[in-house]
Amino acid sequence: MFISFEGIDGSGKSTQLGMLRAWLEERGRTVLTVREPGATHLSESIREILLSNKQTITPTAELLLFSAARTHLVETVIRPALERGDVVLCDRYVDSTTAYQGHGRQLDLEQVALCNRLATQGVLPSLTFFIDVPYDEAQLRMQFHPTGTEPDRMERSGRDFFERVRAGYLSIAASEPQRFVVIPGVQDRTAIHEQICAQIVPMLRG
Ligand SMILES: Nc1ncnc2c1ncn2[C@@H]1O[C@H](COP(=O)(O)OP(=O)(O)OP(=O)(O)O)[C@@H](O)[C@H]1O
Ligand SMILES: [Mg+2]
Repeated sequence: MFISFEGIDGSGKSTQLGMLRAWLEERGRTVLTVREPGATHLSESIREILLSNKQTITPTAELLLFSAARTHLVETVIRPALERGDVVLCDRYVDSTTAYQGHGRQLDLEQVALCNRLATQGVLPSLTFFIDVPYDEAQLRMQFHPTGTEPDRMERSGRDFFERVRAGYLSIAASEPQRFVVIPGVQDRTAIHEQICAQIVPMLRG
């Protein structure tokens, strides 16, 4: 079972991923959680480059760096875990690229889709939760972020960018309603968690 979490920065993805992990483990599942980009030495190094404020990165270079990190993660971590029968929970995956580099950076969507196919090698989540939170609410939540760090290069992209990203996510939801589940994010975290679990219960029976 492969599940991913999506949403703009500060929407509550990692919070929900952690809650779902605990819930699945209580039910006897072996769960692997990974963050994107990251989870391998190479992908964490690429993450550092991508999020660093020390340099500018052109949109196409950004697309290719995210994709390089992803394909390495798929080949070395995600696919082997799925073959073992583990549950894989991914904090961001391919939809982030469609939303951020496609809609946010306004790259050609067909080229982004081509790149995504290459990067994922057909390893796709059966369910994706999009925690939908307006920009202002996400900004507010990030002020109380546990790490309390300065905004990274992506987080500095500004309101217009994040509004395009959010619209991008909503267009994915319209085109793939079975897989891509929109969860209204301005709710208590327990209420969100319950809505997520309700979607997973039928999958556990199978
Ligand atoms: N439903 C909620 N209501 C209010 N605050 C929340 C909710 N869920 C999470 N938070 C808080 O909002 C902040 C951001 O949450 P979280 O780190 O889970 O978001 P994220 O989407 O993973 O962010 P990032 O993109 O920066 O990794 C945290 O301080 C978290 O405790
Ligand atoms: Mg997070």
